Amino acid sequence: MNRFAVFGSPIAHSLSPIIHQAFGKQCGISLSYEKILTPSGQLKAELKQFRANGGMGANITVPLKQEAYALCDNLIARAIEAKAVNTLYWQDDKLWGDNTDGEGLKRDLIQNLSLRLQDKRILILGAGGATLGILGPLLEEHPQAIVIVNRTLKKAKALCDRSFLISAHSYESLNTSNLAPFDIIINATSCSVHNMLPPLAARWIQGAFVMDLAYMKNQKTPFQQWATVNGATQSHDGLGMLVEQAAIGFALWHHKTPDTQDVLRKLRQGAL
Ligand code: ATR
Repeated sequence: MNRFAVFGSPIAHSLSPIIHQAFGKQCGISLSYEKILTPSGQLKAELKQFRANGGMGANITVPLKQEAYALCDNLIARAIEAKAVNTLYWQDDKLWGDNTDGEGLKRDLIQNLSLRLQDKRILILGAGGATLGILGPLLEEHPQAIVIVNRTLKKAKALCDRSFLISAHSYESLNTSNLAPFDIIINATSCSVHNMLPPLAARWIQGAFVMDLAYMKNQKTPFQQWATVNGATQSHDGLGMLVEQAAIGFALWHHKTPDTQDVLRKLRQGAL
């Protein structure tokens, strides 16, 4: 049996096993996919054991994406840019790392939600691991500008040298600025996970396309709800991105392209 797993902490809530099993069923590939609870500092030992017991590939989630990056023998360019890894596989016993998060987000925005990013003004909330993963792929689409707002300003400033299109703000400076409105607002903070809202002034939301990278089963995230109330044209959660990033990993491992729409629809209907 082809053995795969997702490593992280917490891990109980992860939908990755359900998504990969559904892709496997579609493509006629039988596989096992486990959740392996792994606290920070223990990934190397867990991966060694997993590989020794027939592990072929793995997904990495919070808080291990940077730790996984440091463990890889070889890295795909977009993982180097993100300095974080969410997809692993072994080739000739060398560990390869990729980061499919940003490409997954782009596929969800462009293909599933029919959004054009070219010439758009994008506001990203947060400057942590999620932002690192999506920044490079978003820049490839030639937006007009990307503004990063973060509670800790220096983390947002550190990302500005990636491109002249990026600028950084604290919430206070953004909220009191007279910058032009944003077309797209992406919540890449961990606020929704903690049932909180980032301190963004509501006026930015009016008329914007809003995406929260978080996802909550059977309900809108707090940020999505707040965005809807405050005049967002559309507000989406991160389930589409999750399914799309998984599909890119699945294609890497199995050389088959799954139908993401079918799996996304079934997940939303609670049929998986
Ligand atoms: P990571 O390990 O990916 O950095 P994290 O520590 O959970 O994950 O934080 C992710 C992002 O959410 C960060 O940008 C964080 O802001 P700081 O860099 O200032 O820590 C942001 N974040 C978390 N809680 C927040 C809150 N209550 N308000 C605003 N931003 C928050």
